[in-house]
Amino acid sequence: MQAAGATVKRFGVLPRLFPARRQFAATASQCEPTDSPQSPPPSARLSMKMSGWQLHNYGGIEELQLSDKLKLPQIRSSDECLVRVRTTAVNPIDLAMLGGYGSKLLNQFRCQANDDIEFPLTLGREFCGVLVQKGMGVCHQQLQLGTRVWGVVPIPNSNGAHSEYVVVPASCIAPAPKLLDDSEATSVLYAGLTAWSGMYITGGLGGPCGAATSAGGGANKRVLVLGGSGSVGSLAIQILKSQGAQVLATCSENAVEMVRQLGADCVVDYTKPDAMEQLCTYAPYDIVLDCAGQGGQAAAESPYDFRQYITFNSPLLANIDKKGLCLGALQNVSDLVQTNVRTATQRGGVVKWGYFYPAAHGIEFLSGLVERGKLIPQIDSTFDFKDMPKAFERLKCGHMRGKIVVKLQTE
Ligand SMILES: NC(=O)c1ccc[n+]([C@@H]2O[C@H](COP(=O)([O-])OP(=O)(O)OC[C@H]3O[C@@H](n4cnc5c(N)ncnc54)[C@H](OP(=O)(O)O)[C@@H]3O)[C@@H](O)[C@H]2O)c1
Repeated sequence: MQAAGATVKRFGVLPRLFPARRQFAATASQCEPTDSPQSPPPSARLSMKMSGWQLHNYGGIEELQLSDKLKLPQIRSSDECLVRVRTTAVNPIDLAMLGGYGSKLLNQFRCQANDDIEFPLTLGREFCGVLVQKGMGVCHQQLQLGTRVWGVVPIPNSNGAHSEYVVVPASCIAPAPKLLDDSEATSVLYAGLTAWSGMYITGGLGGPCGAATSAGGGANKRVLVLGGSGSVGSLAIQILKSQGAQVLATCSENAVEMVRQLGADCVVDYTKPDAMEQLCTYAPYDIVLDCAGQGGQAAAESPYDFRQYITFNSPLLANIDKKGLCLGALQNVSDLVQTNVRTATQRGGVVKWGYFYPAAHGIEFLSGLVERGKLIPQIDSTFDFKDMPKAFERLKCGHMRGKIVVKLQTE
């Protein structure tokens, strides 16, 4: 495993949502991009096979299989783009989905999208690469063939970014920040959009404009970030500081200095016996952002007051996996109500579930921060594509210090 350094760089972009989910590969345009001799294949070669990691069963890391005989994913709708992937990343959701997490609900979406065969499944939610083909509805000036793009893969897609090519809606990509290298650019969007949507869509930080536009906001709010050293937490801290919020963060001892350098006003080592006491000193919090997998139950048990506790570890998909769609949905309502009744009576605040949401204006917001030098990608470690299982092993060990990046092509 190699450790990779973090860097600051710039960007400016705005992708746009294109309507009309109509066809088709036949109406797609494709090209040979100019920015890299290795990049996109000539049109004739797009019918060739590609390499990718697939799973044919849920289970452990040994289920990941590398094949160089996979069919390229096809553009099926006029708003889609085919990207040749240069770098991708491994996130906790990949490890969870490898074990079957979310399969009951996600398969419903896959069926609607005509991807109705559960396996093989390719994981990977984010990437940096080159745009090689696009549907006829993709006419945004900034999305020219050959453009180096960063992007995310919506959760229900069964063809993720752990492969040489990926197809995503145009709204999920944008030109990659020029001053970020491919590894840095692949490490921002999935966790960044999770942090952004948790704070602005779920938490309403910044008011209606904060959620519906790329305006951000949240000056003078006091936010506690649980798990400030991980992918989501490290970006959440930087987003909040860029907006003038007061930020407290927790992490374990060896990450304290790193989290401080991200800009947190106060860092608490959660392993210390007086950690809770310290957190109580700064309460109440406008928002507690749980980026440490604590879940909603922990909110009621916390000794400090808050207005909103937003956790990214909701039981939503796990309940549906366990009980099926209808009973699982009922269980979700019951869980949320019970947690909130406990929390409202004990702490006076509400508990909400936050999610990754691939919004174009969220990407625009993050782009703006990178451009202004307010958001520095954090990379935990970097692996070659052939070593994908090792990247999963690293994730499994926990105590992440930023993102695990996987390289398909040399920069
Ligand atoms: N709902 C969604 O759509 C969504 C999307 C993305 C992520 N998530 C979830 O959000 C969480 C964070 O994701 P991530 O990608 O940032 O994970 P990550 O990179 O693995 O980071 C998690 C961090 O939490 C810290 N931590 C563990 N226990 C802690 C505790 N008790 N108090 C404070 N910090 C603690 C760990 O650092 P230390 O070494 O300092 O302990 C680690 O750095 C994960 O649980 C993930 O499943 C949900």
